Amino acid sequence: MFKGVLFDLDGVITDTAEFHYRAWQKLGQEIGITIDRTFNEQLKGVSREDSLSLLLAYGGKEHSFSKEEFAELAKRKNDYYLEMIQTIEPKDVFPGIVPLLDSLKEEKIKIALASASKNGPFLLEKMGLTPYFDAIADPAEAANGKPAPDIFLLAAKAVGLKAEECIGIEDAQAGIQAILSSGAQPIGVGRAEDLGEEIPLVPDTTFLTIDYLKEKWHEHG
Ligand code: BG6
Ligand code: MG
Repeated sequence: MFKGVLFDLDGVITDTAEFHYRAWQKLGQEIGITIDRTFNEQLKGVSREDSLSLLLAYGGKEHSFSKEEFAELAKRKNDYYLEMIQTIEPKDVFPGIVPLLDSLKEEKIKIALASASKNGPFLLEKMGLTPYFDAIADPAEAANGKPAPDIFLLAAKAVGLKAEECIGIEDAQAGIQAILSSGAQPIGVGRAEDLGEEIPLVPDTTFLTIDYLKEKWHEHG
């Protein structure tokens, strides 16, 4: 049996992946780079700075900004994003997540956050979910962002487990790669076109029951 579940946040616990997209889109418009949802799949799970580098490269503007301007653009995107998440509340938690967290607690399975977002702790507070989490891995401590395994390794370690003893839940290509490299068992939330055919996938979070997790652990674990 798995002993821990390592959760991504944006796009798994709540719909903030959409806000990240809109904030990048708005910044992109201001600097003459138009992005769509297909390109956005590459940004999901990726740190703020790495996302900005990808955006600039996509627009052919990777050499157009100084270090200071780069930092200002990253801050501007985060300011847009922060504006969008101020009103998040417990009812914005995706369906199925609170029942899953309750079941995990009941069975004494450790719960950790493995989000690349520096806004993770703030969002958990807004949604009233902080008490469920045994640990929140700090993305500032991860030497490499997703798709590197660091944040999942940190999250597992923070709850006293090896990644091999855990399930990781992700909605991003980079995140699934990170889980696979860490040795944890991935479950994807999303479409096979985006996340691949190789791993267990649910179309939305209502399918994430503890029984589903147990079933997939036995099949793949
Ligand atoms: C990830 C998101 O969870 O966090 C990315 O999927 C985002 O879109 C990354 O860029 C970093 O988030 P933040 O809030 O620190 O800018
Ligand atoms: Mg995500």
